[in-house]
Amino acid sequence: MHSARYWAIVPAAGIGKRMGSAIPKQYLPLLGRPVVAHALTTLLQHPRIDGVVVAVDAKDEWWPAVAANLDTAKPVLRAAGGAERHHSVLNGLEMLRERAAWSDWVLVHDAARPCLSAADLDRLLAELADDPVGGLLAVPVRDTLKQTDTAGRVAATVDRSRLWHALTPQMFRLGMLHDALRAALERGLLVTDDAAAMEAAGFAPRLVEGRGDNLKITRPEDLALAEFFLARRAVSVAG
Ligand code: C5P
Repeated sequence: MHSARYWAIVPAAGIGKRMGSAIPKQYLPLLGRPVVAHALTTLLQHPRIDGVVVAVDAKDEWWPAVAANLDTAKPVLRAAGGAERHHSVLNGLEMLRERAAWSDWVLVHDAARPCLSAADLDRLLAELADDPVGGLLAVPVRDTLKQTDTAGRVAATVDRSRLWHALTPQMFRLGMLHDALRAALERGLLVTDDAAAMEAAGFAPRLVEGRGDNLKITRPEDLALAEFFLARRAVSVAG
C-alpha cells in the first residue's frame, strides 16, 4: 500500500497591513534572517517532510533571495499568491497535485509564524498520523473573553472553557483539503484558516495542544517577542 508522504504549504502572499512597514512582515529581519526563513527551516529540517510550496505574490521582490539562501536538498516550489489566504493555499494545493498523491498529508503553515518548534511539529505528525480527518495546533484561551455591543461596552462575558486559539501548521489530506477549500470558495464563505474550510465541509478537525510561543507576527511589538523566544531557544539548544 502507498504510505502517505508529507508536504508543507506556506502562504506568504500577504501584505501585513497591521505592521505598518514598507516590507511585508514575512520578510522583516528576525535575528538576522527574514521571518519566513525561520519556519521554512524548521519544516525543511523535519525528516518526514518531503518538500515545501510557498505561495508568493506576483510582484514580490524579496522571495528569490530568501529561496537562494535556504540550505536544503528538498524541493521548494513557488506558487502564485491569491487575493486572500485561502486562494494562496488553494494555489499551493493545485501545484502539489502534480507531484503528490491525493491521500498525502499537507501541513499548511503561515509564513508569519517564525517560532514553530520541532517538538510541536513532531507532536502534530505523531498525533494525527492515523486520524481520518486531520487537525491543527492550538492553545486554550487563557484571558476572560468579552463580547461588545455596538457602543464599545460589554454585552456579555463568554464562557472560555471550550475555546482555543487556532495556530498553524494545520494538517489535512491533500484531496480532502483541496475539495473543502474549493467548495468554500464557491460558496463565498469567509474561511480564515484551513480547518474552517474542513468544518464547512462537515468534518471535525482534531485540536493538538501546541506551544503558546508559536505566535503570528501581526503588530510591530510581536517581532521583539519572537526574537526573544527564538534567542532563548538557541541558548537552550547550545547549553
Ligand atoms: O494576514 P494574516 O496574518 O492573517 O496572514 C496569514 C498568512 O497568510 C501570512 O503568512 C500571509 O502572508 C498569508 N497570506 C497569503 N495570501 C494572502 C493573504 C495572506 O498568502 N492573500
